[in-house]
Amino acid sequence: MALDVDKARRETPGCFGLVHLHHSGSALMPNPVVDAVRTHLDLEIFRGGYEAEDYAREKLNNTYQSIARMLNCKESEIALSESASVSWNSAFYGIAQTFRKGDRVLTSRAEYVSNMIAYQQVAERTGIKVSVVPDDKDGQLDCRALETLIDRKVKLIAVTHVPTYNGLVNPVNNIGQIANDYQIPYLVDACQSVGQMPLDVVQMGCDALSATGRKFLRGPRGTGFLYIREQSMDKIPPSVLDLHSATWVERDRYELQSGARRYELFESNIAARIGLGVAVDYAMSLGLPEIYSRIRFLADRLRELLSEIDGVTVWDKGVEKCGIVTFSIAGTDAEKFQMVMREKNINIGVSKRNCALIDFDDWGVDALIRSPVHYYNTEDEIEFFAKEVRKKAASPD
Ligand SMILES: Cc1ncc(COP(=O)(O)O)c(C=O)c1O
Repeated sequence: MALDVDKARRETPGCFGLVHLHHSGSALMPNPVVDAVRTHLDLEIFRGGYEAEDYAREKLNNTYQSIARMLNCKESEIALSESASVSWNSAFYGIAQTFRKGDRVLTSRAEYVSNMIAYQQVAERTGIKVSVVPDDKDGQLDCRALETLIDRKVKLIAVTHVPTYNGLVNPVNNIGQIANDYQIPYLVDACQSVGQMPLDVVQMGCDALSATGRKFLRGPRGTGFLYIREQSMDKIPPSVLDLHSATWVERDRYELQSGARRYELFESNIAARIGLGVAVDYAMSLGLPEIYSRIRFLADRLRELLSEIDGVTVWDKGVEKCGIVTFSIAGTDAEKFQMVMREKNINIGVSKRNCALIDFDDWGVDALIRSPVHYYNTEDEIEFFAKEVRKKAASPD
């Protein structure tokens, strides 16, 4: 069934007077999410924080259940956190405890910058080697090349599904098939794909997957989550513990929480977590296949309009291109353009070299404009923005 875009816009106060094309930064929250957060904050104001949490227990449980439904896993395989990075770090630094000198990690060219930094830190500490798998001719991770790089020393395959700086969608299911064939732990960064497209951790065959709430899921800021496959939990020890992730049972002994909650810590923003669950329900009520098909329709339209403009280069690559539209305008500073657009109530993003060093150095660019679309954008907004780009291209800085 087609999405009711008008209804979605009516339920999104931010849509009025603003063209929001910054979804890979943070999306606009719909009313049900805002209401859920406000309701819980009120409960905290009038009842007290701990008491409010007790009253809201069911809503909080709903967040785990909804995420599990969205990812096709068990509720006990979900840990909530404050961000995608906290979740990813929890899985990576957990796995890294088992690394020995000479072990290898295979990753993608489009890997998120923070993940790349974490690999380097662990490489310095433990002497592991990190190899970046080349892309194929279409610009997505080359699965054949991945297979040729595998040997007994490979202890982790970790890839970013959709990079922060491009419309690329890496073939995570095929990569998972290879990881599973060779019985190598497999970690997926789904920060930019969650909420944008359907995700199925069983089809992906991943041991762990990290994601955020604030981007395409349209949840509150300061929310993230981690999936860890039940059978993999013993192989991924939590890297930090507290009284929530473990129980102190004897003077010199603790027991880990059962399930993925061993990867959480005690303190959290309950209102935001409840809002996250509502955001997941909202996306699922619209249908993730429907959301993705509308996103692709709008993104293709924007790419088409941009490609027709002299001086504009669209940089999106891969067989399948998602909602993240990335381009440059010859002779124009991306950040200045972003500020000019902001004054006109058009929100866009900028990706800089140090977020995407491998590709940007190959392409010889320092910064690119990022204008990711979501299903609640309209064709009029896309055309309006393309006209602004056309004007800028005709009179660069
Ligand atoms: C691909 C990818 N992974 C991870 C992150 C980090 O997310 P967070 O800021 O929630 O930690 C981002 C943020 O933009 C991202 O684009």
